Amino acid sequence: MIRRANEIATIIRNSKEIHIVTHIDADGITAGAIASETLRRLRKEYSLECVKQLDEVVIKKLLSEDHDLVWFTDLGSGISTQYPEIKKIITDHHECPPESDALFHLNPHLFGRDGSFELSGSGATYLVSKALNPKNKDLSALAIVGAVGDLQDRKFCELRGVNTEIVNDGIEEGMLKTMKDIRYFGKETRPLSKLLQYASDPLIPGISGREDACLALLQEQQIRLKDGDRWRTWVDLDKEEKRRIISTIIQMLLSKGFGYQTATRLLGETYLLSKEEEGTVLHDAKEFATLLNSTARYGQYEVGLQVCLGDRGKWLKEALNLLSGHRHNLVEGLQFAREEKLQKLGHLQYFHAGDGIRDTIIGIVTNMMLNAEDIDKELPLLGFVHTENGDVKVSARATQSLVDRGLDLATAFSKAAKELNGVGGGHNIAAGATIPKGKEEEFLRMVEREIQLQLVY
Ligand code: C5P
Ligand code: C5P
Ligand code: ZN
Repeated sequence: MIRRANEIATIIRNSKEIHIVTHIDADGITAGAIASETLRRLRKEYSLECVKQLDEVVIKKLLSEDHDLVWFTDLGSGISTQYPEIKKIITDHHECPPESDALFHLNPHLFGRDGSFELSGSGATYLVSKALNPKNKDLSALAIVGAVGDLQDRKFCELRGVNTEIVNDGIEEGMLKTMKDIRYFGKETRPLSKLLQYASDPLIPGISGREDACLALLQEQQIRLKDGDRWRTWVDLDKEEKRRIISTIIQMLLSKGFGYQTATRLLGETYLLSKEEEGTVLHDAKEFATLLNSTARYGQYEVGLQVCLGDRGKWLKEALNLLSGHRHNLVEGLQFAREEKLQKLGHLQYFHAGDGIRDTIIGIVTNMMLNAEDIDKELPLLGFVHTENGDVKVSARATQSLVDRGLDLATAFSKAAKELNGVGGGHNIAAGATIPKGKEEEFLRMVEREIQLQLVY
């Protein structure tokens, strides 16, 4: 992969003007930030755009623009063999067939690595940045925010594979710190009861989703909820307080028969940005990633990009505003999805949210749904929504145990979407597609057939 990064670095050096095309999620924005900062340092002429996916409209526009070089980050593997008229480089981590191997395409799947947990889009972009100049190692923290934003730490409760090398770069550069800690979201900024209320991996039986039970647990453990007027967060606790909460949760999990393996998922490696202030959204890679998701998924990628590039003034303020809207939309979206009737087929389950959920957050909502206590984890979950353009967006999420049995959602989605003149792809554990409206039934049939073939019983 290092050699491939060097080859791409040479293409960049030999280009005058470069247009970056990146994805609208946290991994996409961090990838875009790494690419643009790298080019700025090289004094290249560059521009950037953020897209939901590489569809016909995006490609048509690129074809009409005549760039010296187009740098696709966190997307692009699907078109690596197409459009020779676009001079391109690709730093991506989505599943791709072997024929998409090319000197301009850096993707872990082409090197026997799994892009769902060993390297993210921002990670692949970082490798090229580092090949251009080792001084760019200071951008490693952004690559880790991208990896964590893509849930690459989910499989092993820590980052693995090439990601580990990037973490080490970050530590060496004084940009990152790692710490074994509770894995729940919101350690820096969420009031303690909210941290527990939204706990999903692992779920805490009788506690997750129940505010009164969370408050009762904290009271029983004699944890002070407030410092003056301010709600205390996880990072405000001392070691002994943390230990009391952790051992209580572990006991609850074990006594309800959840097993040792589930209980150990409570703790994992957490990634902290050393240069950021403790107790802020930017200090913890998970919270940072959610902040970025609050921007580009709502058409405001510039806000996320500027925060990645170091703004701590007006852009950060704007990002924090967007964050509260995003949180609200997720809560509402989840509620909406839960009210929709969940349909079960032999090999998958799905819901159709119609116009009720934004197409840019349906993936996150589907993921949250699959994490809920009362959902069947033996079947992959698909969520459909209408898009603004009159198409249908569909997101799918599955558990690691289904993937271990052979499930590959990306292959199923890319095949079925192609048949319907749509586009789709992703990873074995998470995939997405856009298809024409009215084709949902056909899509479901094809995906189901494919899943049936994949799964080993
Ligand atoms: O577009 P991209 O590849 O960056 O997004 C990866 C997606 O896969 C994210 O939505 C993430 O939530 C999902 N994922 C997952 N479980 C994993 C790894 C990734 O749900 N173990
Ligand atoms: O959009 P969603 O979060 O459901 O996407 C899940 C995964 O599928 C992401 O990695 C995303 O980049 C990928 N995807 C894709 N092609 C699409 C839609 C999503 O490769 N048309
Ligand atoms: Zn990604």
